[in-house]
Amino acid sequence: MNAVAPSVAEETCQTEFPIPAGVHAEKVVSVKHYTDRLFAFRITRPQSLRFRSGEFVMIGLPNAAKPVFRAYSVASPAWDDELEFFSIKVPDGPLTSYLQKIKPGDTVLMRPKPTGTLVTDALTPGKRLFMISTGTGIAPFASLTRDPETYEKFDQLVLTHTCRDRAELVYGQELVANAIEDPLIGEFAAGRLSLYSTTTREPSEHMGRITTLIENGKFYEDLGIAPLDPATDRIMICGSMAMLKDVKELAESLGFEEGSLSSPATFVVERAFVG
Ligand code: A2P
Repeated sequence: MNAVAPSVAEETCQTEFPIPAGVHAEKVVSVKHYTDRLFAFRITRPQSLRFRSGEFVMIGLPNAAKPVFRAYSVASPAWDDELEFFSIKVPDGPLTSYLQKIKPGDTVLMRPKPTGTLVTDALTPGKRLFMISTGTGIAPFASLTRDPETYEKFDQLVLTHTCRDRAELVYGQELVANAIEDPLIGEFAAGRLSLYSTTTREPSEHMGRITTLIENGKFYEDLGIAPLDPATDRIMICGSMAMLKDVKELAESLGFEEGSLSSPATFVVERAFVG
């Protein structure tokens, strides 16, 4: 018989490797698969973890001596007892090909330091906050739209989510519907949070890339809102590298300036991480 190297158990993707020093080992609470490419999961939250809504953490699995870690935006708000994440399933991805198999009770590893630029402190004060996302790039905005602090800083929140097909939009649609119904967040979100979902590869109510829809004015027409204006508006952008580049250029062409925590301005950018 051949010697068999430690392998990931088919049903749990867990193995017996020791937890690396300084890393949190948390339990999976729930998993929801949206499509064959997208899933969301919730894990327990280490008591010591403090983060700002919109930040990301490094996530891994206890399935190797040196686990692979990938950046994941926390999709739950800073006040939540659990941590939620929204993930793509990359075929043969060093982490997501295993992570997509997690079940309640499994262990997920998390490095302790949250970070990121999609935080309201990196923006100067404004009236309307536009959160522009594609695919799993909606995750940090799932956090921010459920945080009362975001509504304390802005009068109106507009979340845009563009995906290939309608099934990929469901996470965002549930998020906003639940936020408006929620006894705590609904008080802030009702009438002030709007969602603009668009598809690019399947017919739906609003079709096209968000860049095109902003440029041709259909985005403003559909929502019945005034065009983007750096005097009153702030923009946060999260998606693929190509999307970030195009939306950033569009924002700059409209007079917006990129900000950071050390130098807040009128827009901020973060890539949606995959792997
Ligand atoms: P498209 O179907 O035209 O590529 P993905 O799942 O590949 O990350 O893409 C998510 C969504 O982002 C898709 O609807 C895709 O549209 C859109 N997208 C991809 N690149 C850009 C870009 N440069 N600007 C705006 N939207 C983009």
